[in-house]
Amino acid sequence: MKTIADLGDLRGKRVIVRSDLNVPLKEGAITDDGRIVAALPTWQQLLKAGAKVIVLAHLGRPKGAPDPAFSLAPAAARAAELLGQPVALTPTTEADGLFPPAALSILAGLGDGEIAFLENIRFDPRETSKDDAERGALADKLATLGDYYVSDGFGVVHRKQASVYDIALKLPAAVGGLVLKEVEALRRATENPARPYVVVLGGSKVSDKLGVIGNLLNKADQLLIGGGMVYTFLAAKGYGVGTSLLEADQIETVKGYLGTAVEKGVEIVLPTDIVVADQFAADAAHRVVPASAIPDGEMGLDIGPASAELFRSKILAAQTIVWNGPMGVFEFAAFAAGTKAVAQAMVDSAGFSVVGGGDSAAAVRLLGLPESGFSHISTGGGASLEFLEGKTLPGIAVLEG
Ligand code: 3PG
Repeated sequence: MKTIADLGDLRGKRVIVRSDLNVPLKEGAITDDGRIVAALPTWQQLLKAGAKVIVLAHLGRPKGAPDPAFSLAPAAARAAELLGQPVALTPTTEADGLFPPAALSILAGLGDGEIAFLENIRFDPRETSKDDAERGALADKLATLGDYYVSDGFGVVHRKQASVYDIALKLPAAVGGLVLKEVEALRRATENPARPYVVVLGGSKVSDKLGVIGNLLNKADQLLIGGGMVYTFLAAKGYGVGTSLLEADQIETVKGYLGTAVEKGVEIVLPTDIVVADQFAADAAHRVVPASAIPDGEMGLDIGPASAELFRSKILAAQTIVWNGPMGVFEFAAFAAGTKAVAQAMVDSAGFSVVGGGDSAAAVRLLGLPESGFSHISTGGGASLEFLEGKTLPGIAVLEG
């Protein structure tokens, strides 16, 4: 993969950068700016080199048309604060597929070392089209705006989309420092990892993690399972799970995994105790019960303290730890202890520790753990999962040529 350094002298050059600025918003305010912070070094590197930087990004999943609820305006404002310089926000393509004069004049007025964001690229339906020609047509339009393309949105490299994949075929392209760092860390954690290799999986759905579990049964030494998905595992063991989250149609698949794990000598570690509540609420009455005895009418919302201790001991004994998905409803203080224990154990571990993006990365920040305590915190949710699944990521493959 070519790097930014390979592009040569960038002074006065127009460099299009794909970043992942898909940040969570609450009533229009950013609740976790981690992805913007992670995008800064590449922008700063280009700005310092005297480039005119044009950022492409998406926010959420608008329906292929402009929608103010999905505007990048909050991200542009935050980026301006963090960079300490103005960040222009231009409209993107209109229904005729062309850039409006207002956009072109903002971009034409960009000086060396200045930066503009193009409004949410998913406002154009061609961005996410399954049709190569449609995506290609948008990529052609985007390519007219720049001299070079830098791929730095790790969170979207698993998407074959115009601003991620097709544009890299239209302009001299390089990998940005963030994608490079992500790929290096995830490769280190997945290809030939130092052992014991422990993977902690949580999050709400088993069905989202089927590919990951299948692949890890060939690689990991131990899989520690928590979060909403654990109740399908407990059901597969024959335990009642009360009103906990359950994917009944996945029970047979999970039984298959439990069998394969035994055959392959991979230890699947399930919680031994669970924090149950009478309802899904921050102030719900709750107590700790054995994982094998979740009462009818109650739901598991976190792993219990004995399980947290068990998971901690496994993590501390590992040389490589990858974590994807919270252990419980960490957004509610009463059900955050399991997630916090896993995160703290990773901080305390001397092994190579990777947080697999999405909710787990948000949990690290929300729970106030030191980000420097982890070897790597991925900015990708789906992208890092697909990496763990061993899939080819189109946005990386296209740069590798
Ligand atoms: C993410 O949030 O994981 C990325 O920004 C990708 O978003 P998407 O799942 O809507 O493609």
